[in-house]
Amino acid sequence: MTTVIEARDVSTWLGDVQILHSVDLHITAGEVVALLGGNGSGKTTLLRTLLNLVPHQEGTVELFGTPLEKFRAWTRIGYVPQRGRLQVQNATVDEVVMLGRLSRRRPFTPHGRADREAVAAALARVNLTGFGSRAMAHLSGGQQQRALIARALAAHADLLVLDEPFSALDVRTQASLARLLAHLNAEGLTILVVLHELGPMEPLLERSVVLQAGSVVHDGPLAGAPSPEHTHHHEAAPGRALLEPELHAPSAEQED
Ligand SMILES: Nc1ncnc2c1ncn2[C@@H]1O[C@H](COP(=O)(O)OP(=O)(O)OP(=O)(O)O)[C@@H](O)[C@H]1O
Ligand SMILES: [Mg+2]
Repeated sequence: MTTVIEARDVSTWLGDVQILHSVDLHITAGEVVALLGGNGSGKTTLLRTLLNLVPHQEGTVELFGTPLEKFRAWTRIGYVPQRGRLQVQNATVDEVVMLGRLSRRRPFTPHGRADREAVAAALARVNLTGFGSRAMAHLSGGQQQRALIARALAAHADLLVLDEPFSALDVRTQASLARLLAHLNAEGLTILVVLHELGPMEPLLERSVVLQAGSVVHDGPLAGAPSPEHTHHHEAAPGRALLEPELHAPSAEQED
């Protein structure tokens, strides 16, 4: 099995405070792993450490078998940050999703038709057709998250890392997003997702990692998880828009 993330004995300090304490995390291709823990337990810091967005002071991290210091294949990873941390407020949705295509082109060549088609197809899969020319800043939180997922799809990412993607969504939108993630996982995408509660992701989850005060206190099956034959739902054919059709309705643009 291909190792996607291998973190050993990782400790991270922010300023002079130690946030992560000797964290071990091993994630294999095709897994869906929930990262759980209370506020301030270090979930976001762990994701940011794994993605080299903050330096770690002890331990080793490998992504797809490459040491973090040498890893360059960032388009293999889609990152959907915690709400409020979005760094691209001035860009349009098309521009953000097109970023997922950059590595697939020779440098400094203009977007080709294949790029534009890939962007349109990715937006369709997350039900954001028609939103391409809007500014990211003018989308709802749930729409921003879907645009970032579309960027990962346009890049053909292998790993999706999401930090509390459900926190700002109403129940129906949560269910749609959970279905989208289930489809993407069934197609082979590996998913690491920070959750506050299991909610609509529960049927998809086989494993959880729980942080407490920066240490891993649980890594294994979800207690009370349903049996494997109930873990995947395939309601829509692959390639079709995977979010609920009613999200196209104008009134649903306020879904969160
Ligand atoms: N820049 C920083 N400097 C010092 N401490 C920080 C910094 N950023 C975060 N922290 C602290 O690190 C700890 C872990 O924060 P982190 O954001 O990783 O937690 P979290 O588990 O994601 O919490 P939440 O559920 O609220 O998102 C917290 O105590 C937080 O106050
Ligand atoms: Mg957090």
